[in-house]
Amino acid sequence: MESHVQILENYSLRQHNTFGIEATASHFAALDRKEDLLDVLEYRHKLNEELFILGGGSNILLLDNLRKFVVKNEIGGIEVLHEDAYEAIVRVGAGTVWHQFVMHAVSRGWGGVENLSLIPGTVGASPIQNIGAYGVEIKDVFVELEAVNLENGTTTIFDHQSCAFGYRYSVFKAAEKDKWIITSVTFRLGKSREVNTSYGDIRKILGEMGITRPGIADVSRAVVQIRSSKLPDPAVLGNAGSFFKNPEIEADLYHELQQEFEGIPGYPVDGTRIKVPAGGLIEKAGWKGYRDGNVGVHERQALVLVNYGGATGLEISNLAERIQQSVEEKFRIRLSPEVNFIR
Ligand code: FAD
Ligand code: EPU
Repeated sequence: MESHVQILENYSLRQHNTFGIEATASHFAALDRKEDLLDVLEYRHKLNEELFILGGGSNILLLDNLRKFVVKNEIGGIEVLHEDAYEAIVRVGAGTVWHQFVMHAVSRGWGGVENLSLIPGTVGASPIQNIGAYGVEIKDVFVELEAVNLENGTTTIFDHQSCAFGYRYSVFKAAEKDKWIITSVTFRLGKSREVNTSYGDIRKILGEMGITRPGIADVSRAVVQIRSSKLPDPAVLGNAGSFFKNPEIEADLYHELQQEFEGIPGYPVDGTRIKVPAGGLIEKAGWKGYRDGNVGVHERQALVLVNYGGATGLEISNLAERIQQSVEEKFRIRLSPEVNFIR
């Protein structure tokens, strides 16, 4: 088959990152068929540049113009591998927009991803940090993924165990980082009416909607409502969602902090560690609503850093560093970024 991959030079990535940062890629191509991947890999060797696989650009911070061959994954398709009265097993092309997949599932009554409604980005990026929201993570519905090795073009299946999922973590954030392009992800979705309303906000909104026996579509609507009220829309105000992860700290430190500061919520992770909402720490350190020129901290969600227009990646990363320092001085907790820094 003839390749129809078009390679562009010095291509602006501004429309391809939700922070809206202006930075260029020395080379750029959109890939919408897996068959063209080998051509892309061959071309990369000719260019002798690193490959960078881009999805929706909703979890990256571009620190500079990239001397890289940026390949935007647009491989689509939703294929039902198996369906019976209880479940559907679906294989989804990695370039599918995540929320479109969620809407597809919700409209068919397939449960399991409705709590993850409205998360930006692509299906292919969803396993990388094991996306999560409102009591659900993709590891809860994940079966396996297919990935192609960027060095030698071989295809491998990663099952649940080999992904080593954790909170905002998988093997693709560590040993396998930047070595693969994920081409499809397979999910197991359930057909029972059981929904997860463990997150307080969801129950509250459903109550306000007057819904007592919520179904999949009700939960999806509630999540969309909560998210729209709290998180800035990147089309209006550049951001990448939570900039930092919620830290998991030792119980001893947590108890010390509870003595020193009032109202620090915490959620036990295991026998010894407590997860603390970073947004609260940043707010208590005085940063909520802070603005310095082009960059700032969102006024409704202190965990979200924003680009008011024209910011550089460096301006955002400098602000992030100041926040890290100030939170560390006050609470003895070093926040780790969730966003991927790209240079
Ligand atoms: P990108 O930002 O394009 O890429 C992220 C990383 O994945 C990069 O390292 C990239 O190289 C790699 N990558 C992308 N696609 C592939 C592929 N096919 N193969 C190999 N590597 C790949 N996240 C949550 O977990 N929960 C939330 O509730 C949430 N809310 C958000 C709200 C807003 C407003 C925004 C802007 C972001 C939010 N995020 C959230 C973060 C983001 O949506 C997720 O991390 C998402 O999965 C990123 O997808 P993407 O396609 O945009 O990835
Ligand atoms: N909080 C504050 N002030 C703030 C923000 C938060 O005090 O400005 C405290 C409050 O105690 C609040 C708690 O933090 O009750 C939790 O806030 P929220 O429900 O908004 O969630 P979060 O912990 O800030 C996490 C994820 C989000 C995900 C939501 C919903 C991380 C890093 N972030 O945010 O994911 O959508 O929970 O489940 O785990 C993302 O990863 O990009 C992201 C947006």
